[in-house]
Amino acid sequence: MEHFSRIETIKTEVQNFVIQDKESLEAFRLAYVSGKSKIADLLAEIKNIPQENRKNYGAAVNALKELAQQKFKEHQQKIEEMLAQQVQAPQIDLTLPAVPNALGSMHPLSITKNRIIEIFERLGFNVSESYEIEDDFHNFTALNFPPNHPAREMQDTFFIEKGENDILLRTHTSTVQVRLMETQKPPIRSIMPGRVFRNEAISARAHCIFHQVEGLFIDENVSFADLKQTLYHFAKEMFGKDTQIRFRPSFFPFTEPSAEIDISCLICKGKGCNVCKHTGWVEIGGAGMVDPNVLESCKIDSQKYTGFAFGMGIERIAMLKYGIKDLRLFTENDLRFLQQFRHL
Ligand code: PHE
Repeated sequence: MEHFSRIETIKTEVQNFVIQDKESLEAFRLAYVSGKSKIADLLAEIKNIPQENRKNYGAAVNALKELAQQKFKEHQQKIEEMLAQQVQAPQIDLTLPAVPNALGSMHPLSITKNRIIEIFERLGFNVSESYEIEDDFHNFTALNFPPNHPAREMQDTFFIEKGENDILLRTHTSTVQVRLMETQKPPIRSIMPGRVFRNEAISARAHCIFHQVEGLFIDENVSFADLKQTLYHFAKEMFGKDTQIRFRPSFFPFTEPSAEIDISCLICKGKGCNVCKHTGWVEIGGAGMVDPNVLESCKIDSQKYTGFAFGMGIERIAMLKYGIKDLRLFTENDLRFLQQFRHL
Protein backbone atom coordinates (compact mmCIF):
# COMPACT_ATOMS: atom_id res chain seq x y z
CA MET A 1 0.00 0.00 0.00
CA GLU A 2 2.90 2.20 0.70
CA HIS A 3 3.75 2.04 -3.00
CA PHE A 4 0.34 3.31 -3.98
CA SER A 5 0.49 6.25 -1.60
CA ARG A 6 3.85 7.18 -3.11
CA ILE A 7 2.12 7.41 -6.52
CA GLU A 8 -0.50 9.74 -4.97
CA THR A 9 2.20 11.96 -3.45
CA ILE A 10 4.00 12.34 -6.75
CA LYS A 11 0.73 12.94 -8.56
CA THR A 12 -0.02 15.86 -6.20
CA GLU A 13 3.51 17.20 -6.81
CA VAL A 14 2.98 17.05 -10.57
CA GLN A 15 -0.35 18.82 -10.31
CA ASN A 16 0.95 21.57 -8.05
CA PHE A 17 4.23 22.19 -9.87
CA VAL A 18 4.29 25.74 -11.21
CA ILE A 19 5.91 26.08 -14.65
CA GLN A 20 6.37 29.70 -15.67
CA ASP A 21 9.61 29.91 -17.63
CA LYS A 22 12.29 27.87 -19.38
CA GLU A 23 14.04 27.03 -16.12
CA SER A 24 11.03 25.71 -14.24
CA LEU A 25 10.04 23.76 -17.36
CA GLU A 26 13.44 22.05 -17.37
CA ALA A 27 13.20 21.34 -13.61
CA PHE A 28 9.79 19.75 -14.20
CA ARG A 29 11.19 17.66 -17.06
CA LEU A 30 14.07 16.34 -14.97
CA ALA A 31 11.84 15.54 -12.01
CA TYR A 32 8.85 13.95 -13.78
CA VAL A 33 9.49 13.27 -17.48
CA SER A 34 13.13 12.29 -18.09
CA GLY A 35 14.54 8.73 -18.00
CA LYS A 36 15.81 9.38 -14.48
CA SER A 37 12.69 11.04 -13.14
CA LYS A 38 10.73 10.13 -10.04
CA ILE A 39 8.16 8.48 -12.30
CA ALA A 40 10.88 6.36 -13.97
CA ASP A 41 11.86 5.28 -10.46
CA LEU A 42 8.25 4.31 -9.75
CA LEU A 43 8.22 2.15 -12.89
CA ALA A 44 11.49 0.48 -11.92
CA GLU A 45 9.92 -0.30 -8.56
CA ILE A 46 7.39 -2.64 -10.20
CA LYS A 47 9.59 -5.70 -9.61
CA ASN A 48 9.11 -5.23 -5.84
CA ILE A 49 5.32 -5.17 -6.03
CA PRO A 50 3.46 -8.32 -5.08
CA GLN A 51 2.22 -10.22 -8.13
CA GLU A 52 -1.50 -9.65 -7.47
CA ASN A 53 -1.05 -5.82 -7.31
CA ARG A 54 1.32 -5.39 -10.21
CA LYS A 55 -1.33 -4.82 -12.85
CA ASN A 56 -3.02 -2.05 -10.85
CA TYR A 57 0.28 -0.52 -9.88
CA GLY A 58 1.52 -0.48 -13.49
CA ALA A 59 -1.71 1.13 -14.68
CA ALA A 60 -1.55 3.81 -11.97
CA VAL A 61 2.09 4.68 -12.72
CA ASN A 62 1.39 4.83 -16.45
CA ALA A 63 -1.56 7.18 -15.87
CA LEU A 64 0.71 9.41 -13.79
CA LYS A 65 3.40 9.30 -16.50
CA GLU A 66 0.80 10.33 -19.06
CA LEU A 67 -0.36 13.21 -16.83
CA ALA A 68 3.21 14.49 -16.36
CA GLN A 69 4.00 14.27 -20.10
CA GLN A 70 0.80 16.03 -20.98
CA LYS A 71 1.53 18.90 -18.57
CA PHE A 72 5.09 19.12 -19.88
CA LYS A 73 4.00 19.35 -23.53
CA GLU A 74 1.39 21.98 -22.85
CA HIS A 75 3.77 24.25 -21.00
CA GLN A 76 6.60 23.64 -23.42
CA GLN A 77 4.43 24.97 -26.23
CA LYS A 78 3.27 27.97 -24.21
CA ILE A 79 6.80 28.93 -23.24
CA GLU A 80 8.08 28.60 -26.80
CA GLU A 81 5.34 30.93 -28.01
CA MET A 82 6.15 33.36 -25.25
CA LEU A 83 9.84 33.39 -26.16
CA ALA A 84 9.10 33.82 -29.87
CA GLN A 85 6.99 36.89 -29.09
CA GLN A 86 9.71 38.42 -26.98
CA VAL A 87 12.14 38.16 -29.88
CA GLN A 88 9.70 39.87 -32.27
CA ALA A 89 8.71 42.74 -29.97
CA PRO A 90 10.79 45.83 -30.79
CA GLN A 91 13.18 46.79 -28.09
CA ILE A 92 12.02 50.24 -27.03
CA ASP A 93 14.27 52.42 -24.97
CA LEU A 94 11.85 54.61 -23.07
CA THR A 95 14.64 56.77 -21.70
CA LEU A 96 15.60 58.11 -25.14
CA PRO A 97 14.55 61.74 -25.83
CA ALA A 98 11.52 62.01 -28.16
CA VAL A 99 12.01 62.87 -31.84
CA PRO A 100 10.26 66.26 -32.27
CA ASN A 101 7.48 66.34 -34.87
CA ALA A 102 8.24 68.94 -37.53
CA LEU A 103 5.29 71.34 -37.60
CA GLY A 104 4.27 72.99 -40.85
CA SER A 105 3.49 76.68 -41.16
CA MET A 106 0.99 78.80 -43.02
CA HIS A 107 1.97 80.06 -46.46
CA PRO A 108 2.66 83.82 -46.48
CA LEU A 109 -0.10 84.29 -49.08
CA SER A 110 -2.60 82.51 -46.82
CA ILE A 111 -1.50 84.61 -43.85
CA THR A 112 -1.94 87.78 -45.92
CA LYS A 113 -5.30 86.68 -47.32
CA ASN A 114 -6.61 85.80 -43.86
CA ARG A 115 -5.46 89.14 -42.49
CA ILE A 116 -7.24 91.01 -45.34
CA ILE A 117 -10.43 89.03 -44.67
CA GLU A 118 -10.18 89.80 -40.96
CA ILE A 119 -9.90 93.55 -41.57
CA PHE A 120 -12.85 93.70 -43.96
CA GLU A 121 -15.02 91.36 -41.91
CA ARG A 122 -14.86 93.86 -39.09
CA LEU A 123 -16.25 96.48 -41.51
CA GLY A 124 -19.20 94.20 -42.25
CA PHE A 125 -17.96 92.57 -45.48
CA ASN A 126 -18.55 88.85 -46.02
CA VAL A 127 -16.45 86.53 -48.20
CA SER A 128 -17.59 85.24 -51.61
CA GLU A 129 -15.90 82.83 -53.99
CA SER A 130 -16.61 81.54 -57.45
CA TYR A 131 -15.24 79.68 -60.48
CA GLU A 132 -11.68 79.92 -61.78
CA ILE A 133 -12.83 78.72 -65.21
CA GLU A 134 -15.20 81.35 -66.52
CA ASP A 135 -16.87 82.54 -69.70
CA ASP A 136 -16.34 85.73 -71.69
CA PHE A 137 -19.61 87.18 -70.37
CA HIS A 138 -18.56 87.13 -66.70
CA ASN A 139 -14.93 88.08 -67.30
CA PHE A 140 -15.55 90.84 -69.89
CA THR A 141 -18.98 91.58 -71.36
CA ALA A 142 -20.91 92.01 -68.11
CA LEU A 143 -18.07 94.21 -66.87
CA ASN A 144 -18.63 96.64 -69.71
CA PHE A 145 -15.71 95.56 -71.92
CA PRO A 146 -17.06 96.29 -75.44
CA PRO A 147 -16.30 93.63 -78.09
CA ASN A 148 -12.83 94.12 -79.59
CA HIS A 149 -11.98 96.72 -76.96
CA PRO A 150 -8.20 96.93 -76.41
CA ALA A 151 -8.73 96.41 -72.66
CA ARG A 152 -9.47 92.76 -73.48
CA GLU A 153 -6.05 92.42 -75.05
CA MET A 154 -4.43 94.00 -72.00
CA GLN A 155 -5.60 91.14 -69.82
CA ASP A 156 -3.44 88.46 -71.56
CA THR A 157 -6.19 85.91 -71.31
CA PHE A 158 -5.69 82.13 -71.36
CA PHE A 159 -8.51 80.84 -73.55
CA ILE A 160 -9.74 77.28 -73.14
CA GLU A 161 -12.42 77.17 -75.81
CA LYS A 162 -13.25 79.76 -78.46
CA GLY A 163 -16.90 80.11 -79.33
CA GLU A 164 -19.83 82.45 -79.03
CA ASN A 165 -19.15 82.82 -75.32
CA ASP A 166 -15.43 81.96 -74.96
CA ILE A 167 -14.40 79.72 -72.08
CA LEU A 168 -11.31 81.06 -70.32
CA LEU A 169 -9.33 81.20 -67.09
CA ARG A 170 -10.52 84.28 -65.21
CA THR A 171 -8.08 87.17 -65.48
CA HIS A 172 -9.44 88.97 -62.42
CA THR A 173 -11.74 88.31 -59.48
CA SER A 174 -14.20 90.90 -60.84
CA THR A 175 -16.03 87.86 -62.26
CA VAL A 176 -17.21 87.11 -58.72
CA GLN A 177 -18.66 90.65 -58.55
CA VAL A 178 -20.84 89.80 -61.52
CA ARG A 179 -21.93 86.44 -60.15
CA LEU A 180 -22.81 88.04 -56.84
CA MET A 181 -24.84 90.85 -58.40
CA GLU A 182 -26.67 88.33 -60.59
CA THR A 183 -27.84 86.32 -57.61
CA GLN A 184 -28.19 88.79 -54.71
CA LYS A 185 -30.17 91.91 -54.13
CA PRO A 186 -28.45 95.01 -52.66
CA PRO A 187 -27.22 95.83 -50.12
CA ILE A 188 -24.17 93.81 -51.09
CA ARG A 189 -20.99 94.12 -49.07
CA SER A 190 -18.50 91.41 -49.91
CA ILE A 191 -14.84 90.69 -50.57
CA MET A 192 -13.73 88.07 -53.03
CA PRO A 193 -10.30 86.53 -52.68
CA GLY A 194 -9.12 84.10 -55.34
CA ARG A 195 -6.64 82.85 -57.91
CA VAL A 196 -6.39 84.56 -61.30
CA PHE A 197 -4.50 83.77 -64.49
CA ARG A 198 -2.74 85.87 -67.12
CA ASN A 199 -0.51 84.84 -69.97
CA GLU A 200 2.59 86.67 -68.77
CA ALA A 201 6.23 85.63 -68.68
CA ILE A 202 7.30 84.66 -65.16
CA SER A 203 9.72 87.14 -63.57
CA ALA A 204 10.53 88.68 -60.19
CA ARG A 205 7.54 91.00 -60.62
CA ALA A 206 5.02 88.97 -62.63
CA HIS A 207 3.55 85.48 -62.69
CA CYS A 208 0.96 83.76 -64.85
CA ILE A 209 -0.91 82.63 -61.71
CA PHE A 210 -1.48 85.04 -58.86
CA HIS A 211 -4.10 86.11 -56.33
CA GLN A 212 -6.41 89.05 -56.03
CA VAL A 213 -8.96 90.19 -53.53
CA GLU A 214 -11.85 92.13 -54.91
CA GLY A 215 -14.26 94.19 -52.83
CA LEU A 216 -17.80 95.27 -53.70
CA PHE A 217 -20.20 97.50 -51.80
CA ILE A 218 -23.60 98.29 -53.30
CA ASP A 219 -26.36 100.15 -51.52
CA GLU A 220 -28.27 103.40 -51.73
CA ASN A 221 -26.08 106.52 -51.53
CA VAL A 222 -22.69 104.83 -51.64
CA SER A 223 -20.11 107.47 -52.60
CA PHE A 224 -16.47 107.79 -53.60
CA ALA A 225 -15.80 109.14 -50.11
CA ASP A 226 -16.93 105.78 -48.69
CA LEU A 227 -14.48 104.03 -51.00
CA LYS A 228 -11.63 106.26 -49.91
CA GLN A 229 -12.39 105.89 -46.24
CA THR A 230 -12.66 102.08 -46.52
CA LEU A 231 -9.30 101.72 -48.27
CA TYR A 232 -7.68 104.26 -45.98
CA HIS A 233 -8.78 102.21 -43.00
CA PHE A 234 -7.55 99.02 -44.67
CA ALA A 235 -4.09 100.46 -45.41
CA LYS A 236 -3.61 101.58 -41.81
CA GLU A 237 -4.77 98.23 -40.40
CA MET A 238 -2.66 96.21 -42.81
CA PHE A 239 0.54 98.21 -42.95
CA GLY A 240 0.53 100.37 -39.82
CA LYS A 241 -0.76 103.72 -38.59
CA ASP A 242 1.75 105.87 -40.47
CA THR A 243 0.83 104.51 -43.89
CA GLN A 244 -0.37 107.12 -46.38
CA ILE A 245 -2.75 106.35 -49.23
CA ARG A 246 -3.40 108.17 -52.50
CA PHE A 247 -5.67 107.74 -55.50
CA ARG A 248 -4.52 108.36 -59.07
CA PRO A 249 -7.09 108.78 -61.86
CA SER A 250 -7.17 105.68 -64.04
CA PHE A 251 -9.41 103.68 -66.32
CA PHE A 252 -11.29 100.40 -65.93
CA PRO A 253 -14.27 99.61 -68.17
CA PHE A 254 -16.38 98.55 -65.18
CA THR A 255 -15.84 101.58 -62.92
CA GLU A 256 -16.41 105.30 -63.46
CA PRO A 257 -14.63 107.25 -62.14
CA SER A 258 -11.69 104.89 -61.70
CA ALA A 259 -8.53 105.19 -59.68
CA GLU A 260 -5.33 103.39 -58.97
CA ILE A 261 -4.53 102.96 -55.28
CA ASP A 262 -1.03 103.75 -54.03
CA ILE A 263 0.34 103.46 -50.52
CA SER A 264 3.41 105.24 -49.20
CA CYS A 265 6.50 103.02 -49.66
CA LEU A 266 7.09 101.01 -46.50
CA ILE A 267 10.67 100.20 -47.39
CA CYS A 268 12.07 103.75 -47.66
CA LYS A 269 9.25 105.54 -45.81
CA GLY A 270 8.72 107.83 -48.79
CA LYS A 271 12.35 108.86 -49.33
CA GLY A 272 12.69 106.92 -52.59
CA CYS A 273 14.13 103.44 -53.22
CA ASN A 274 14.21 100.68 -55.85
CA VAL A 275 10.92 99.15 -54.76
CA CYS A 276 8.97 102.41 -55.26
CA LYS A 277 11.15 103.37 -58.23
CA HIS A 278 12.15 106.50 -56.29
CA THR A 279 8.62 107.89 -56.21
CA GLY A 280 7.88 107.13 -52.56
CA TRP A 281 4.63 105.38 -53.59
CA VAL A 282 3.70 101.79 -54.54
CA GLU A 283 0.59 100.67 -56.33
CA ILE A 284 -1.52 98.02 -54.60
CA GLY A 285 -4.59 97.86 -56.83
CA GLY A 286 -7.42 99.54 -58.68
CA ALA A 287 -10.79 100.89 -57.59
CA GLY A 288 -13.75 103.01 -58.61
CA MET A 289 -17.49 103.54 -58.60
CA VAL A 290 -19.29 100.63 -60.26
CA ASP A 291 -20.32 101.73 -63.78
CA PRO A 292 -24.14 101.95 -64.12
CA ASN A 293 -23.86 99.71 -67.21
CA VAL A 294 -22.46 96.92 -65.01
CA LEU A 295 -25.31 97.31 -62.52
CA GLU A 296 -27.82 97.16 -65.37
CA SER A 297 -26.28 94.08 -66.98
CA CYS A 298 -26.69 92.37 -63.60
CA LYS A 299 -30.30 93.64 -63.37
CA ILE A 300 -29.72 96.08 -60.52
CA ASP A 301 -31.53 99.42 -60.68
CA SER A 302 -28.77 101.96 -61.30
CA GLN A 303 -31.09 104.88 -60.51
CA LYS A 304 -31.61 103.60 -57.02
CA TYR A 305 -28.29 102.00 -56.19
CA THR A 306 -24.65 103.00 -56.43
CA GLY A 307 -21.59 101.09 -55.40
CA PHE A 308 -17.85 100.99 -55.25
CA ALA A 309 -15.44 98.21 -56.15
CA PHE A 310 -11.74 97.67 -55.62
CA GLY A 311 -9.25 94.96 -56.51
CA MET A 312 -5.83 94.32 -55.04
CA GLY A 313 -3.01 91.85 -55.64
CA ILE A 314 -2.43 89.62 -52.62
CA GLU A 315 1.17 88.89 -53.70
CA ARG A 316 1.89 92.59 -53.93
CA ILE A 317 0.53 93.21 -50.45
CA ALA A 318 2.50 90.27 -48.98
CA MET A 319 5.69 91.50 -50.70
CA LEU A 320 5.28 94.97 -49.21
CA LYS A 321 4.35 93.69 -45.80
CA TYR A 322 7.21 91.19 -45.48
CA GLY A 323 9.82 92.85 -47.68
CA ILE A 324 9.87 90.06 -50.29
CA LYS A 325 11.65 91.14 -53.46
CA ASP A 326 10.92 88.21 -55.81
CA LEU A 327 7.41 86.99 -56.54
CA ARG A 328 8.68 83.57 -57.63
CA LEU A 329 9.53 82.70 -54.03
CA PHE A 330 5.82 82.22 -53.32
CA THR A 331 5.55 79.23 -55.61
CA GLU A 332 8.96 77.57 -55.31
CA ASN A 333 8.21 75.75 -52.03
CA ASP A 334 11.67 76.43 -50.68
CA LEU A 335 11.52 75.55 -46.97
CA ARG A 336 14.16 78.14 -46.10
CA PHE A 337 11.69 80.77 -47.33
CA LEU A 338 8.50 79.22 -45.94
CA GLN A 339 9.93 78.54 -42.47
CA GLN A 340 10.44 82.25 -41.93
CA PHE A 341 6.66 82.64 -41.57
CA ARG A 342 6.34 80.05 -38.81
CA HIS A 343 5.84 82.48 -35.98
CA LEU A 344 3.10 84.49 -37.76
N1 PHE B 1 -10.21 93.88 -61.82
C1 PHE B 1 -9.18 94.87 -61.90
C2 PHE B 1 -7.88 94.22 -62.33
O1 PHE B 1 -7.72 93.07 -62.25
C3 PHE B 1 -8.98 95.56 -60.58
C4 PHE B 1 -10.16 96.37 -60.19
C5 PHE B 1 -11.18 95.81 -59.45
C6 PHE B 1 -10.30 97.71 -60.54
C7 PHE B 1 -12.29 96.54 -59.06
C8 PHE B 1 -11.37 98.45 -60.16
C9 PHE B 1 -12.38 97.88 -59.42
O2 PHE B 1 -7.00 94.87 -62.77
